Amino acid sequence: MTRKIAIFDTTLRDGEQSPGASMNTEEKLIIARQLVRMKVDVIEAGFPISSPGDFKSVEEIGRIAGDDCTVCGLTRAVDKDIDVAAEALRTAKRPRIHTGLGVSPSHLTEKLHISEEECIERAIHCVKYARRYVDDVEFYAEDAGRSEQDFLVRVIQAAVNAGATVVNIPDTTGYSMPWAFGARIRDLRERVDGIEDVTIAVHTHNDLGMATALAMEAVRNGASQIECTINGLGERAGNTAMEEVVMAIRMHEEEMDGHTDVVTQELCHASKLVSSITGINVQPNKSIVGANAFAHSSGIHQDGVLKARDTYEIIDPADVGAGGSQIILSARSGHAALRHRYAELGYTFDDASFDAIYEAFLEVADKKKEVYDEDLESIIHEQQRITTAIWTLGAVQISCGFPLTPTATITLTDEDGHTTTDCAFGTGPVDAVYKAVNKIVGVTNDLSEFSVKAVTRGIDALGEVTIRVTSESGEVYTGRGSDNDIVVSSARAYLNALNRLLATEREAA
Ligand code: KIV
Ligand code: ZN
Repeated sequence: MTRKIAIFDTTLRDGEQSPGASMNTEEKLIIARQLVRMKVDVIEAGFPISSPGDFKSVEEIGRIAGDDCTVCGLTRAVDKDIDVAAEALRTAKRPRIHTGLGVSPSHLTEKLHISEEECIERAIHCVKYARRYVDDVEFYAEDAGRSEQDFLVRVIQAAVNAGATVVNIPDTTGYSMPWAFGARIRDLRERVDGIEDVTIAVHTHNDLGMATALAMEAVRNGASQIECTINGLGERAGNTAMEEVVMAIRMHEEEMDGHTDVVTQELCHASKLVSSITGINVQPNKSIVGANAFAHSSGIHQDGVLKARDTYEIIDPADVGAGGSQIILSARSGHAALRHRYAELGYTFDDASFDAIYEAFLEVADKKKEVYDEDLESIIHEQQRITTAIWTLGAVQISCGFPLTPTATITLTDEDGHTTTDCAFGTGPVDAVYKAVNKIVGVTNDLSEFSVKAVTRGIDALGEVTIRVTSESGEVYTGRGSDNDIVVSSARAYLNALNRLLATEREAA
């Protein structure tokens, strides 16, 4: 039997630090349930002291994570941070506090203004202080990838002696080369007394496109926890992607002497869910979960794959949940067929939410002859957006053309059920819609990005709009919406972004 490599997902913490990826508690809970279903070992649910919203998310995720999944809260090496994290984690059956501080020369001198000795004292103190609250304390040595190795050994030794159960060696700036990073881990294993009794974790960033390679070298040299995010979201160029590390380990289990417990068939589903909720598209050529990951375009490749799949495919698409189904639903498909197909795609619903989904499915199926899996995913994501909305779209009507002035009339309903209608002119139909929405919702923002893509093939395909808006305080919010009519999709996307903005401001108040 190979070693168990624990998967620590930080989509909801480091992933949320991607510009435009901020999520409210409801959205985080949807992702957390998926992570539990996928059997990840640890969910880093947030940074509780950073905002009331993060505190609530950690608390709520603690309630749903169950007996097998550890819920983790991030802190700085500051007592108050640790007090607040411990409070937020009281709901969790398996709580973990993740605490630490910078250890590289630049972090010590330029950011923290402390000596090496002071850094070691703070490391010891934060671990001991966190251990007063929980038995499971992970210590992170921020910017370890650029630290002096002898000093890193001393800090990690101090954290282990103080009672850390996990020591996290982050390459915070994505600076390292894989072999050098692997050598650091091996050196820690050889030189830190008692390290065999703690878990060595790695947290790698993708600034040089090396995040997954760094994690693999670390595992080969003794690390047994990888910190990662769905779709590789994260600060700047992102973190190592869960789908990549999990599949790389699975494909090379013997060589890595490691396996994970992640349900790989859920990887594509998780990717779509996170992309839909954050509004951050996955590039088509992204490994494992990109739209082209299993597409063969050249004639030679198509010929090869038709003769034997493994000529050009190293992974069976079904193993990551990308198995292209031939089942196409239509307006004649009943409740049972729709429910069955959704279950195959990994979605289950209670009766009340399924009724709303079936209604939405019929609306799409009435307009399109054939409803593909991608349409079904889009319908469900639209429904999820509606369920967590403050404002929902009641109606949109536009008149435009040459030489008319584009005019939009919009009806919106607020969460108390009050309905408001207003209209506006614009330079185009979408501009008119946005101006009419602004008159009702009244939130100042700047629209910085707008893109439309077809969900499936054909003239009747659902159009999915992604937009980004910047709030008065400079935060970026992403919104998505889909419909057969792209003006309606645009209205939905805009409302989705405004709902996020309002929910975040409300949580912070
Ligand atoms: O990149 C990093 O070092 C981090 C730490 C807080 C673990 O995200
Ligand atoms: Zn990070």
